Parts: sequence; C-alpha cells; structure tokens
Amino acid sequence: MTTTTGASAQDIEFHYDVGNDFYALWLDKSLTYSAATWNDTTGEVSDATALARAQQNKLRHHLNQAALPAGGRLLDIGCGWGALLALAAEEEHANEMIGLTLSRAQLAHVNSLALPRVQARLEDWRSHTPDSLYDAIVSVEAFEAFAGPGLTATQRVALYTDFFASCHRWLAPGGMLSLQTIAFDNGVDASGPVGAFFASDVFPASALPRLAEITAACDPFFSLTALTSAPQDYIRTLRAWSARLLAAREQAEKTVGADTYQRYRLYLKTCEVLFRRGEVTLYRITLRRRPRRLHLPSSSPS
Ligand SMILES: C[S@@+](CC[C@H](N)C(=O)[O-])C[C@H]1O[C@@H](n2cnc3c(N)ncnc32)[C@H](O)[C@@H]1O
Repeated sequence: MTTTTGASAQDIEFHYDVGNDFYALWLDKSLTYSAATWNDTTGEVSDATALARAQQNKLRHHLNQAALPAGGRLLDIGCGWGALLALAAEEEHANEMIGLTLSRAQLAHVNSLALPRVQARLEDWRSHTPDSLYDAIVSVEAFEAFAGPGLTATQRVALYTDFFASCHRWLAPGGMLSLQTIAFDNGVDASGPVGAFFASDVFPASALPRLAEITAACDPFFSLTALTSAPQDYIRTLRAWSARLLAAREQAEKTVGADTYQRYRLYLKTCEVLFRRGEVTLYRITLRRRPRRLHLPSSSPS
C-alpha cells in the first residue's frame, strides 16, 4: 500500500471511499473536506449553519485568488466531492471546469450533481494532459498526498517541483494558482510520531510538506503573491467536524461500524491537538505564473 512518491488511488480510496453517507453525517452540506475560513460573522462552531458559511468563505477565497476570467478554464486538482466546482459553476462565468480526484466515490458524487460546464475525472495529476491551457488552477488540501513518508527534504522538493512545473506548463500566461495545504511547522521532526500519525492508518502514503520545501519547489515557476498561516481556521473546523460526528454517533456506527467511527473521532481530536500545539499549521498560498522558468542556484530547504 505504501508508496514513497505519494498516495496512490488505492491509498486515497482507503480514506475517502469509507462512504459518502458517512462523510455527509459530519461535513457541511457541500461536503467540503478542508479547513474552512472563520471570521467574526461566521458564527459559533456549535451553530449548525456556521460551518457551511465558513466553508463557502474558504471556497470564495480560492476562487477570488484564482481570478478566473469570464469564459476561462479552471482546473481543480483534488476536487473532493466537488464543492469548489459547484460554487464556480454557480457564480463564475467559466467556460469549462475540470476536477481531478483519485476517489471513485467522490467522482460518482460530483457526476450526480450534474454541474453545468463541469467535468470530473478519476485521474492523478501526474497523468493529466490538458486539451488546452487553463486560466486558473486551484488545489485545496491535496498537496499533502503528493509525497510519501520516508523521503528526504530533497526528494520531497523534487516531487513538489514536478507538480509546480506541471501547473506552470498547463497555465496560460499570467495564470494564478491558489493552493491550500496542511504543513509541518519548521521545528517539528517529520520522522517523529507526528509524521508517523499522519502516515498511519488515516492517510496512508501521505506526508506533510514544510513551507521551505514548498517555496523552494515553486519559486522557479511562480511568484508568491500572498501567504497566510491560519491554524485557528483548522482548529475551529476540526471542532465543528468532531461535534457533528459525535452528535451523529448512532447513525455513523450503523453506517461504518464502531471501529471506523472511533478511528475518525481519534483522528479529528489528534489533529486538533497538533494544530493547538503548533506542530502543524495551515497555509493558503497564492501564486502567479512566471512568464518563463527561472534557473535559480540550487539551495537546500533543510
Ligand atoms: C482532503 S481532500 C480535499 C478535497 C477538496 N479540495 C475539498 O477541499 O473539499 C483531497 C483530495 O485530493 C485528491 N488527490 C490526492 N492526491 C491526488 C493526486 N495525485 N491527483 C489527483 N487528486 C488527488 C483526493 O482524491 C481528494 O479528492
């Protein structure tokens, strides 16, 4: 099951194909599975509609940063259950929106939404070949699966470089890439228990990046125009997910069994602790495609 180059379709299915019905019990109604954007007006975590509002805030942030022109083409790398594609289809004037996922259950769900001008594909970004250039790319919390455990920083940077080189090749001149990822804070040893937890039975074959690795990999291809660190957003999102899962315990155990229910409760609580302790954080990064690749003197991110 374990690959060092990142999560395979099999690894992804281990996590996501637990069943759409199960995720629907504790995610918001758009089935967004990433940190939401909370602010003073979003409301309390205990408010049932606050999570949905905070998720829409986050999706809008990425669409704004992506600055998709009218009639343009959008790529969502790691589209999940299609929440961002659904909002883009509703609010943007895109001509074509393509979403990539490795999960069959997610693909089936996006297809069932029958979103206009949206095409979801069961496809790894590494084998993606666009029909024509994209005007904007968004990737929200898929980056964590692009490298596997046990790699050196240099090896991870090489994999991330392939990702940014591909996005550079696929984007039209001046195109934007809006990225969101969980990352290790720089003080933490990725080979220690925190890394082992992330790569254990929750997200097999995945490993978190560090900021220095992301910037080393993207710098030749993209100019960084905005960077936010928002661990508080994840803490509130995890609290909301935990509360909803706890409230749906009976149904969740019927749907996936008591063991899986307990595994998810533990995973959500452990993640919350890791964010609170500052061992992991959340980055939202906006990148503008450079006109041509820069050849920078190589530097070690570690
Ligand atoms: C945590 S989910 C986030 C989904 C969505 N962006 C959201 O915010 O709700 C990660 C997504 O990345 C996808 N993914 C992971 N590795 C991928 C790869 N190599 N190619 C394409 N999709 C990938 C998974 O299938 C899943 O849809």
